[in-house]
Amino acid sequence: MSLFDPQQILTLSQVSGIQYFPSIDSTNQYLLQHTDYPSGYVCIAEQQTAGRGRNGRVWVSPPTGNLYLSLLWHFPLQKLPWSSLSLVVGVAVAKALAEYPNIAVNLKWPNDVMVAGNKLAGILVETLSRDKMTVVIGLGLNIHMPTNYRDDIQKPITDLASLTTNRINPNLLVATILKQLVTALELFAKKGFAPFIADWESYHANQGALASVSQGNTVIEGKIIGINAEGALLLQQGDIITPIYSGEPSVKLIK
Ligand code: BTN
Repeated sequence: MSLFDPQQILTLSQVSGIQYFPSIDSTNQYLLQHTDYPSGYVCIAEQQTAGRGRNGRVWVSPPTGNLYLSLLWHFPLQKLPWSSLSLVVGVAVAKALAEYPNIAVNLKWPNDVMVAGNKLAGILVETLSRDKMTVVIGLGLNIHMPTNYRDDIQKPITDLASLTTNRINPNLLVATILKQLVTALELFAKKGFAPFIADWESYHANQGALASVSQGNTVIEGKIIGINAEGALLLQQGDIITPIYSGEPSVKLIK
């Protein structure tokens, strides 16, 4: 039996359309191949055979239990702080999940959705390189991760089923996420990243912590003091503040 009812999600969320697959290679890949679809078009699957994570990693996407969702969005403007877009998505997802009582969601830069140090959801924003105005926003959310797949994942993870005893209505959950996403993307198109900075920092898991960030062969150490107007992580070493932009850096907490 399917976990999701696309018709119900469409009615509840008012997005422009939904394509549902019991199984697909990657929902992001599907929308990247259909960028002629209207803004707000959604692809949902119950299994991905080639789920993609950030930095070329695999997103473990076993059948029935989790959410694999992508949203196509056309921005009217080219001049937007694109590097902050994935942080905007993180804020929208955190706000949607905050509607579930007792789940203390926070964000790890740039956009991992975490609960108590365990990853609950991942976000992958992709675009066709020739056109930044059209983006595909991918979200993988662990609702019920089968135990036999957990060993395939190198990092500590969690799922909604372990975090709440309340029954989760998957269609309402997806619709809530989509509504938050649409509101956030419309605001980002008008005002850029500025309206999201305070919200992002309020969800920030590692604000004030010491961190080491690897970028290529260089390792930068410092205290995380927040993010800037482009979504870069700000690391302070003495009087020097270094902005860390998207790319390959991985934040490792020292303390
Ligand atoms: C991460 O590495 O944290 C990002 C993971 C993003 C996974 C989602 S699942 C739906 C969409 N389709 C994909 O192939 N990847 C994203």
